[in-house]
Amino acid sequence: MRIVLGVTGGIAAYKAALLLRLMTEDGHEVHVVPTNSALNFVGKATWEALSGQPVYNDTFEAVEEVNHVLQGRQADLVIIAPATANSLAKAATGLADDLIGNILLTATVPVVMAPAMHTEMWENAATKANVATLRGRGVHVIEPAVGRLTGVDTGKGRFPEPDDIWSQTKALLTETPSQGKLEGKRVVISAGGTREALDPVRYLGNRSSGKQGVALALAAARAGADVTLIAGAMDIAPPQHQNIAVVSIESTRDLLDAVLHHAEGKDGLIMAAAVADFRPAAATDEKIKKQDDNSAPTIVLEQTEDVLRTTVEQRDAGQPLPPVIVGFAAETGDAETTPLEYGRSKLQRKGCEILVVNEVGIGKVFGQDDNDATIIFADGSDDVPVQGSKDLVAEEIINQLAGALA
Ligand code: CTP
Repeated sequence: MRIVLGVTGGIAAYKAALLLRLMTEDGHEVHVVPTNSALNFVGKATWEALSGQPVYNDTFEAVEEVNHVLQGRQADLVIIAPATANSLAKAATGLADDLIGNILLTATVPVVMAPAMHTEMWENAATKANVATLRGRGVHVIEPAVGRLTGVDTGKGRFPEPDDIWSQTKALLTETPSQGKLEGKRVVISAGGTREALDPVRYLGNRSSGKQGVALALAAARAGADVTLIAGAMDIAPPQHQNIAVVSIESTRDLLDAVLHHAEGKDGLIMAAAVADFRPAAATDEKIKKQDDNSAPTIVLEQTEDVLRTTVEQRDAGQPLPPVIVGFAAETGDAETTPLEYGRSKLQRKGCEILVVNEVGIGKVFGQDDNDATIIFADGSDDVPVQGSKDLVAEEIINQLAGALA
């Protein structure tokens, strides 16, 4: 494999030399592209000696070969390690003022970025937004490690161990179980939480981050599907992907309309959205004011539409809605009943083909990067437990959807 290793200007550049070693020892041809700032930390001679390849770092070198385009086109993988806060910002905005910026704009292969910076920089809102943008475009941004930073300080932002970066990268490149399995299929996925208006400024909402729904949309697109993502309120930016169309909604009513409209004639529907079960019975057009007598209003709620069940019912009544519908169940267990048992009765009640059962609680699932779920089937197929990152769980759900459509 031909790998471009982009090294940007942080002290962790010296550790990128070890990463380079791991890649060459595995038999890969690595072309190192350091930025000018990176050369302050580790010089060109080191990169050339370790990679056994000429090292270019200027857009105006090897111009006769149109090197700035060639490098990205010929690569099978691009890794930016370390990725500074500045390089994440440049990549997120698509700046091409150096060779690595040009490569990132021309490469259509997997891109991995391993950030390293001080904790304050990693936690800065600008960096967070840039990371979300990059992830939304399918760039694999590795979580930095927690530990000793450049000086005496410690915290999150440390460059992950080269071994970890390389093993995560290899796992990413391994053929995924769903690869190509949704080629030619059209899938609708709902994500995020609904918001039910109380007045023009207030709403009833929930803790859904949208991460699982977005991971599903990206996994479905990777599997070859044409995806419509119906997005409610989310903590992360919706993905920007040529095979994913994004439709924004706010309330459960909007969601129902959008699902019935966009799912018509499609092959699959995945309802990953966290839908409000209740809404204020009467939303006012004017902001509710405080009263002088210190009294507080009583809010009367009514049930919202059940989008999943309505869609199944309309399909079963003959509407051209997807033959395979996947629901999610967020369950807590109690003394008598396990979350999975609650899930089985929900599967029957909802009438969908597949249900992904998550055990929830404060700090579990909602907003977290990992998930622990069991996929259950209406046709009596064996349960499929799945545990790991939301990307991994998404991959397995897409794999099961593809199986059910086959
Ligand atoms: N769902 C829906 N419309 C609703 C509520 C939920 O379409 N009004 C969908 C969700 O997107 C999810 C599935 O139904 O795919 C189950 O959601 P969950 O909140 O677990 O179940 P509820 O139907 O709300 O049932 P309960 O709160 O009684 O567990």
